[in-house]
Amino acid sequence: MKKTNVTNTNLAEYCGVSEGTIRYWEQNKVNLYDDAIKDYMASLNTTTKCDTKKKHILMVCGLKGGVGKSTISNILSYSVPNSAIFNIDITAKESHANSATTIDFSEIYKEDMENSKDDGCDIKASEVLNIVKEDYDTVFVDTPSDASEEFLDVAPYCDDFIVVFYDGRAIEASLGTVDVLFNLDVINKKKHRVFFIYNRAESQKDAEEALSEFKNGVEKIQKKSERGKDFECHYTYLENSKVVRTMEKQKISVVDLFTSKGIMYKSFRNRANRLINEADSFLELC
Ligand SMILES: Nc1ncnc2c1ncn2[C@@H]1O[C@H](COP(=O)(O)OP(=O)(O)OP(=O)(O)O)[C@@H](O)[C@H]1O
Ligand SMILES: [Mg+2]
Repeated sequence: MKKTNVTNTNLAEYCGVSEGTIRYWEQNKVNLYDDAIKDYMASLNTTTKCDTKKKHILMVCGLKGGVGKSTISNILSYSVPNSAIFNIDITAKESHANSATTIDFSEIYKEDMENSKDDGCDIKASEVLNIVKEDYDTVFVDTPSDASEEFLDVAPYCDDFIVVFYDGRAIEASLGTVDVLFNLDVINKKKHRVFFIYNRAESQKDAEEALSEFKNGVEKIQKKSERGKDFECHYTYLENSKVVRTMEKQKISVVDLFTSKGIMYKSFRNRANRLINEADSFLELC
């Protein structure tokens, strides 16, 4: 068996034996030696495949408070395998909805501020994102309702965007999010996709009207930019669900909602599943 660039040290570590044992196998032409090299090489190939797998960073935004960014991040992260939420809202209070794997930048931020001699936080959200993405294939970046330092820091590292909005007033603010991302040249650099989610729709008719209004606004923004055509949009909605309120009162998380057998949660699950299916096709395209 050709050893190529496998060292005895690597092999010993991989097999959990001493280097002396490896040398003994090699010198005495013990079959175990060839098998160990074969196994080790195969493990390297798997690691390489895994390492080169494209990581997908999605920013969930909407420069407006309470539109459902965190709820939607949780629903999507629950449905996407090996994904996590990276919450960069340093003012966010702990949320019971955060049942999917969540990494809170606020915790790192607060700890760093306590230890820091000057006033600032030395760790940037984008640095933490870089570490988080090592462990997950997909990261949903849950954002605050303003273009905070963390938002502006992380936005350029995001591959695609999910913009959440609801009701008439939020439409303008959410179009503002698109404008901000455009002005910062964030969604212009490469072929980004944006998934617009109209949340808390009262009916299909309400959703269609809101989405059409939103589409017009987005098209205007696209026309303002020469590369506007590079910015590909997908639109969907999630209905308003009274069950979400009950779930909050009873401190039931998004994951509990999906796993609970309670009949009352069925309506929410049906609504969320529609969104999940739409998101699946969006994510597949990315
Ligand atoms: N589809 C829905 N139906 C009913 N209630 C909803 C729905 N989506 C979100 N909510 C409720 O709206 C409120 C705000 O949701 P959420 O915390 O997800 O918004 P957010 O955009 O993350 O807010 P913030 O800007 O404060 O971070 C919560 O009480 C949540 O349960
Ligand atoms: Mg939130």
